[in-house]
Amino acid sequence: MAAAAHRIAPGGAPRVLILGATSPIARALALEYAHGGASLYLAARDTAEAARIAQDLAVRTGVAAHAGPFEAGDYAAHPELISRAAAALGGLDGVALCFGALGDEPAAHHDATAARKIIADNYTGAVSILTFAADHLEAQQSGFIIVIGSVAGERGRSRNYIYGSAKGALALFTQGMRARFARTPIHVMTVILGTVDTRMTWGRESAFLTVAPERAAALIHKAWRRRAEVVYVPFFWRFIMGVIKAIPERFFKQLKF
Ligand SMILES: NC(=O)c1ccc[n+]([C@@H]2O[C@H](COP(=O)([O-])OP(=O)(O)OC[C@H]3O[C@@H](n4cnc5c(N)ncnc54)[C@H](OP(=O)(O)O)[C@@H]3O)[C@@H](O)[C@H]2O)c1
Repeated sequence: MAAAAHRIAPGGAPRVLILGATSPIARALALEYAHGGASLYLAARDTAEAARIAQDLAVRTGVAAHAGPFEAGDYAAHPELISRAAAALGGLDGVALCFGALGDEPAAHHDATAARKIIADNYTGAVSILTFAADHLEAQQSGFIIVIGSVAGERGRSRNYIYGSAKGALALFTQGMRARFARTPIHVMTVILGTVDTRMTWGRESAFLTVAPERAAALIHKAWRRRAEVVYVPFFWRFIMGVIKAIPERFFKQLKF
């Protein structure tokens, strides 16, 4: 059973902090956890929307759901968020990192401020909040961290190499953290996500290979239940990226995609 596998105590259902809770993927993942009886703390920039989502979850599933502010770049507020979520939930068993932003990549190719913003939104902010989360879990010697990465982090493309480099760095960071906790019960899972139909991809990607946020969330939750460490969502991206990574650089750099 999932809760037992993650050594959740007491009561059986995990107490989970969702970061970037206004993402449709985060919202669907929160619903997956709520259906399993988890209590939730939804953190987002748009606190009013996070509160509406929390209320909706509580009404639909009967779980306790709280909401509060989270801004990736507000580093000083990160330790307090972990404490506040733990206080509201009566403890904290897991953190799901769902935030991220493509930014204005074409502009960022010529504007270092815009480029640094993409790195901060996707990587530096994640490193900061995950460092506090990891120490919390280490102190109690239990819990889990889920990090949503991207196939964009697996190979540099002209179209999105700043966002891609942040997601690639995030995957390496998560891999290292998994090694840090290898001899503990703490579970660290990296999600290498393909294309999902959200705000992020509107007007950018074709429907081909794109999945709904609910489908992505169900697969992430299923992978978490079986304590996967690195999971491609959906699974076929493992093969696609295997092929893409095998293309020699001199050919790959000529491709327009
Ligand atoms: N959609 C895809 O095809 C795809 C593919 C691979 C990976 N991903 C990853 O999946 C995750 C969810 O993205 P999504 O597709 O659901 O996109 P989305 O709808 O744009 O959601 C992104 C979330 O990140 C939050 N966010 C952005 N910058 C932030 C910041 N500086 N501080 C705090 N929160 C911030 C957004 O908050 P606001 O609501 O306030 O903007 C929103 O909650 C992200 O990590 C994304 O990189 C998505």
